[in-house]
Amino acid sequence: MTADHADHIDLADLADHADHADHADHADLAGRFRVLWDSIAPVGRDPGSGGYLRYAFTEPELALRDWFRAQAASRGMPVTADGNGNLFARWGHPAAGDAVLTGSHFDSVPHGGAYDGPLGIVSAFLAVDELRAAGAVPARPLVVAAFAEEEGARFGVPCLGSRLLTGALDPGRAAGLRDADGVSLAEALGDRPAGARPDLLGGFSCFVELHVEQGRALVERDAPVAVASAIWPHGRWRFDFLGEGNHAGTTLMADRRDPMLTYAFTVLAANKEARLRGAHATVGRVRVEPNATNAIPSKVTGWLDARAAEPDTLTGLVDAVRAKATERAGRDGTEVTLTEESATPLVAFDGGLGGRLAALLDAPVLPTGAGHDAGVLAGHLPTAMLFVRNPTGVSHSPAEAATDADCAAGVAALARVLEKLTCT
Ligand code: GLV
Ligand code: MN
Ligand code: MN
Repeated sequence: MTADHADHIDLADLADHADHADHADHADLAGRFRVLWDSIAPVGRDPGSGGYLRYAFTEPELALRDWFRAQAASRGMPVTADGNGNLFARWGHPAAGDAVLTGSHFDSVPHGGAYDGPLGIVSAFLAVDELRAAGAVPARPLVVAAFAEEEGARFGVPCLGSRLLTGALDPGRAAGLRDADGVSLAEALGDRPAGARPDLLGGFSCFVELHVEQGRALVERDAPVAVASAIWPHGRWRFDFLGEGNHAGTTLMADRRDPMLTYAFTVLAANKEARLRGAHATVGRVRVEPNATNAIPSKVTGWLDARAAEPDTLTGLVDAVRAKATERAGRDGTEVTLTEESATPLVAFDGGLGGRLAALLDAPVLPTGAGHDAGVLAGHLPTAMLFVRNPTGVSHSPAEAATDADCAAGVAALARVLEKLTCT
């Protein structure tokens, strides 16, 4: 099967296929899910917040990579590393092409939820078990991926591993990215990243990523699993506000050049401009220098995360926020510069593999404002995503949730999809 085949796969006969993978009793599957899930649940969990600190290439994330290798080994799946921090565990002949790729990421945002990322990897291994238990004989290899630094929480660029793999990010630029402690990506990886790997990418015919839903659409639809239609265009912009550090007690209010004021105004402007456009704008990270209670800051850096359904809306939003910040800086006697740190274009899954999987699973189809490695790979391969219901609708927070029964439904759906893609 070629990539083109995957994109045009005829799923019309699927209903009669009484998929082998769907035989499993869901209660048993939920039990198997719980056992495997419990094996990673403590890793990187902060007892205070109940959230996860699983930054790329730090100890908890490295422990999860060991877990990945062990799970792969126990299933007889050799693991390949691509030199960009991504891991691939393979079921099938090493030399065979047209492999079907699934998986997700282990890394988390600060104090993130348990499911964002790991659910896709745990589900992938369980889907392999389901296919094997049903006696499926794949005609094409099935590969489970663990992508590196999807959240960009350590080095600032989201989907870092998949961007490097696909050539969307220059390995020289990536090598020099630094974390909050000044450690470079090259140091964390132990080497300069390899960059584009067309040799590896060319061996994949399609990618299906299973992910926890990051909203409440499935709760409203009373369905456990959905298929993604699109990912909103989105990006990250760094605002550097420069002023004059000075004494909090002795500097007259009229004499101040306080970048905190320009920053605060910009945060409010971003919120207002996003609301006016039906878009999303967030400033969730800020750095203040020197960060003293009794000193006017000399510099404030704030990171804007902006997303919209349409690219022009997003561009208009960022331009408007920049204009408001610049105008306010003029009044505050400060300076502001804006740097784009990452940008992801609109990704439309429907009409391709995603649309066909929605027909196969008879599942609702949802757009999302969240970014994923699937969005990066979609520029190179037929790509689809499955979402599993999240009863709280909350994500990037310890409150993120999914029931074992819904996770089992997700595994069953993934197994069904993978069986179709690998076995026919
Ligand atoms: C990743 O989850 C993102 O949408 O930022
Ligand atoms: Mn996330
Ligand atoms: Mn994710």
